[in-house]
Amino acid sequence: MVNRDRVSEPAPTAGGAPTGSGVPCTPVLARLLTTGPDDTRAAAAELATVLVDGDLLVLTGDLGAGKTCFTQGLGRGLGIEDRLTSPTFTLANRYRGRLLLHHLDVYRLDSVAETVDLGLAELLEDGVTVIEWGDRIAEVLPHDHLVVAIRYPELGTELTRPTERGSGAAAETGDIDWDGAAMSQRIIELATAAGAPSGWADRDLDRLLAPWRADR
Ligand SMILES: Nc1ncnc2c1ncn2[C@@H]1O[C@H](COP(=O)(O)OP(=O)(O)O)[C@@H](O)[C@H]1O
Ligand SMILES: [Mg+2]
Repeated sequence: MVNRDRVSEPAPTAGGAPTGSGVPCTPVLARLLTTGPDDTRAAAAELATVLVDGDLLVLTGDLGAGKTCFTQGLGRGLGIEDRLTSPTFTLANRYRGRLLLHHLDVYRLDSVAETVDLGLAELLEDGVTVIEWGDRIAEVLPHDHLVVAIRYPELGTELTRPTERGSGAAAETGDIDWDGAAMSQRIIELATAAGAPSGWADRDLDRLLAPWRADR
């Protein structure tokens, strides 16, 4: 169960200009609102259409945020027919679709040293690599990766999006009803590391994912 009292700080807004403190922000390429697991899978499947060999996606968010669900959508978008399950215990699963998909979950890794055993360099040579809890091993990851941060909307915020897809009244009006449909809402932010020599920005993710765009 996710602790809803622990409200995340709002992420930096698109554009990624340095803050007043001089610390560079992570440029947010797209900010999405999904209204249920299938909606999250649909958005991820759309993202999958622009993935290429060598891509690395780092999925962050609490337990139950929807990281595995998002990866299932990527798998669907890559034309993978196998049921994609959480690799929490197996550490890494591999699927073949339009591209290879390496699905990792490093939640149980005891130390960053163990990531050597993951053979990350080899995985990145062939296919798309998705790492749940990848922020835990950030120091050994290549700089150029897409962060997919999934969280509940902040309490009391009003959220809407331009196109509603099978959502229900709560998402439509943007009213946060914590006893009802809003439990199924997630904010998903796609971002790259500041200064990464990123091809991600060229893929126009905000436009690609416009039906899920969260508007304040
Ligand atoms: N909008 C949503 N997106 C993703 N999952 C959602 C959403 N709303 C509810 N859920 C539920 O949240 C849970 C997400 O689980 P999972 O993907 O395994 O999370 P994680 O891998 O981050 O631990 C599932 O039970 C799913 O049905
Ligand atoms: Mg998971």
